[in-house]
Amino acid sequence: MIKNGIEDLVIFGGHPVFDDKLHVGRPNIGNRQHFLDLMNDMLDRRWFSNEGPYVKEFEKKIVEYLGVKHCIAICNGTIALEIATRALGLKGEIIVPSFTFIATAHSLQWQEITPVFCDIDHRTHHINPKVIEKMITPRTTGIFGVHTWGRPCDIEALSEVAKKYNLKLLFDASHAFGCSHNGKMIGNFGNAEVFSFHATKFFNTFEGGAVVTDNDDLAIKIRLMKNFGFAGYDNVIYIGTNGKMNEASAAMGLTNLESIDEFVVINRRNYECYNSLLNNIHGIKILRYDDHEKQNYQYIILEVDESETGLSRDKLLKVLHAENVLARRYFYPGCHRMEPYSSYHPNAGLLLPETEKIANKVLCLPTGTSVRPEDVIQICEIIRFVVENGVEVNQRLSAETKR
Ligand SMILES: Cc1ncc(COP(=O)(O)O)c(C=O)c1O
Repeated sequence: MIKNGIEDLVIFGGHPVFDDKLHVGRPNIGNRQHFLDLMNDMLDRRWFSNEGPYVKEFEKKIVEYLGVKHCIAICNGTIALEIATRALGLKGEIIVPSFTFIATAHSLQWQEITPVFCDIDHRTHHINPKVIEKMITPRTTGIFGVHTWGRPCDIEALSEVAKKYNLKLLFDASHAFGCSHNGKMIGNFGNAEVFSFHATKFFNTFEGGAVVTDNDDLAIKIRLMKNFGFAGYDNVIYIGTNGKMNEASAAMGLTNLESIDEFVVINRRNYECYNSLLNNIHGIKILRYDDHEKQNYQYIILEVDESETGLSRDKLLKVLHAENVLARRYFYPGCHRMEPYSSYHPNAGLLLPETEKIANKVLCLPTGTSVRPEDVIQICEIIRFVVENGVEVNQRLSAETKR
């Protein structure tokens, strides 16, 4: 037992369980020497961007890995979403979940397209296809599905609604690289799918992203758009921006692709360890992954039910942070409660009851290659201890904030 009484908790004067901070989304790094060799070659070549050899190779490898026709590597996931949206000709309103990272909504608003927030299904944390139909107006041109936590959203139901109303369907697959749905890799669904390879994702290119699609015309457009619309030297045939991935990022991607299976093995080991140790704590539910599909297991997601634990998710978070376990409240408080959306529609929450409920319950715990099984065991011990003493910890924390 690492804590004998609640006095041993750091918030009440004890010593932290961890000397160093444990983060959510600490970068995974493949073979360092391989990356450095690639960097040396890149410096010798003096070719740092603009369709360099590493970017081309990276795109080819992703196409093979996903079994998709086209991959266009982009400088980050947000710009990839913006470019894909624009290339698909979307305007007016797009239906999106509010329970997502703010970039999903911002990528639209940035282009003066209105994100219309749709509620989620509290069981899956995904946009609820049954609610979508009610949100469709004459201005609606598309739907964004988000594969939150890497678990595919209801692709079939969303495809049906999109078909029925002649809407475009784009997936924000930022969390779902390396995951499958009915045996087919995520990346193969909708009009296009977008990945983020941000440093915090289990597979990273420092910063980076990609749009993948089977649509030849769309791929051509996106290629032009991410390079200012240049179709060759001195020849701009389209409006574009600068969405290019650089060679150093592509080299990191090539390096990390070689280790991707090892990253998944470690994530899965941590997930199983968390799962077995948190499974029977009252009021703590860990989100499960379907082991019959390919998964990246990159998020350890808890739902904290205060009515059973005796203390809120936020108080548990406070205790964990004090112990140097930097858990996160993804995606609190929901996009609809952030600017500019909360000013545009201050009462949007009334239409988003499940989003609000889940946003107040979710806690994301550290995992990845920098988190060892012994760390997981200790994190779980702290959580068990705090929940077992939930009422007392809660009272004490409440009394201290009143003082
Ligand atoms: C769901 C979601 N969408 C979009 C993004 C934006 O990706 P990026 O940070 O690569 O721009 C992220 C992550 O950062 C994300 O989690």
